[in-house]
Amino acid sequence: MNLKEEILKLKEQLDVTIVAHFYQRDEVFELADINGDSLELAKKAMNTSSKYILFCGVGFMGESVKVLSPQKRVLMPKIACCAMARMIDVDYFDESLKKLNDVGIKSEDLLPITYINSSAAVKARVGEMGGMVCTSSNAYKIIQKGLESGKKIFFVPDRCLGQNFAKSLNLKSTVIGDGTDPHEADIICYDGFCSVHQLFSVEDIEFYRNKFPDILIAVHPECDPRVCDAADFVGSTSQLIQFIKDLPQDQKVAVGTEYNMVNRLREKNTYILSSTKPECPTMNETTLEDVYRTLKAIEKDQDEPYENEIIVDESVVKWAKVALQRMFEV
Ligand code: 13P
Ligand code: SF4
Repeated sequence: MNLKEEILKLKEQLDVTIVAHFYQRDEVFELADINGDSLELAKKAMNTSSKYILFCGVGFMGESVKVLSPQKRVLMPKIACCAMARMIDVDYFDESLKKLNDVGIKSEDLLPITYINSSAAVKARVGEMGGMVCTSSNAYKIIQKGLESGKKIFFVPDRCLGQNFAKSLNLKSTVIGDGTDPHEADIICYDGFCSVHQLFSVEDIEFYRNKFPDILIAVHPECDPRVCDAADFVGSTSQLIQFIKDLPQDQKVAVGTEYNMVNRLREKNTYILSSTKPECPTMNETTLEDVYRTLKAIEKDQDEPYENEIIVDESVVKWAKVALQRMFEV
């Protein structure tokens, strides 16, 4: 039996659901029971009856499942960390808040919204302050809802997502430390970003438009605002997949998001919007061997925590769950 067959056999025998984000390597992606964008994965994993969730993705995604369903045992074959999520922790969050307080913007006049790409501890801080979580597929609605509070939005950690949705809602945004006046802004963004999505540039768009005048450009909202402005379509991973699926076969499209996902979209007429291969290094860490090893561990069904099990402190679960549930309510 080869490794894939061994994995499939173990999966049948065990009370486990394998979950994989679109950015996973093909061989891992293909054997998952559930695929999706970060919002879909959190929802679907929460609604399974399995005792064990084997989550192939990055740390914040596994943590979100654990926060939403603390009774489940969530294991990650590799506890890979999203580089953007690591750009903010609770101390940086508080420091940024203090900087705003120091220029006269009070905490009670701010409603924090955190992109789901953040630690459970940051989500908890946001929940405690009356704020909520958003993902790339629902940020528009969540920000709109947040504005009903009459407060400014303090958006963490992705400055690009904050700026892009501010533009689409006709709002003013600023990034902490960029020299602009936060008093003028409706959305104040923390200065985080995704290094993978920074690879796409306006020059790449021009290159493809010069080469194929009818080509469409579709990008993820983690791309730079200049890239999103120049694109024909901006959407989350699931929204990009749907957009491309609905195109006529002969319509060329250049896509600005992670390589593994773009590569399996369509056989023809689909291009990667960058001359540098946009691979998310941490998403790519998970291999079939890791999945196999984790299933073998689950086979023991031990009570003690596993080496790569997601454990979230109870005090963090409480408020992180509130922040996630506020998102689901919207
Ligand atoms: P999605 O929510 O669109 O799946 O995005 C997650 C992500 O990390 C993109 O880089
Ligand atoms: Fe994080 Fe960027 Fe990787 Fe998405 S592509 S998981 S934002 S590092």
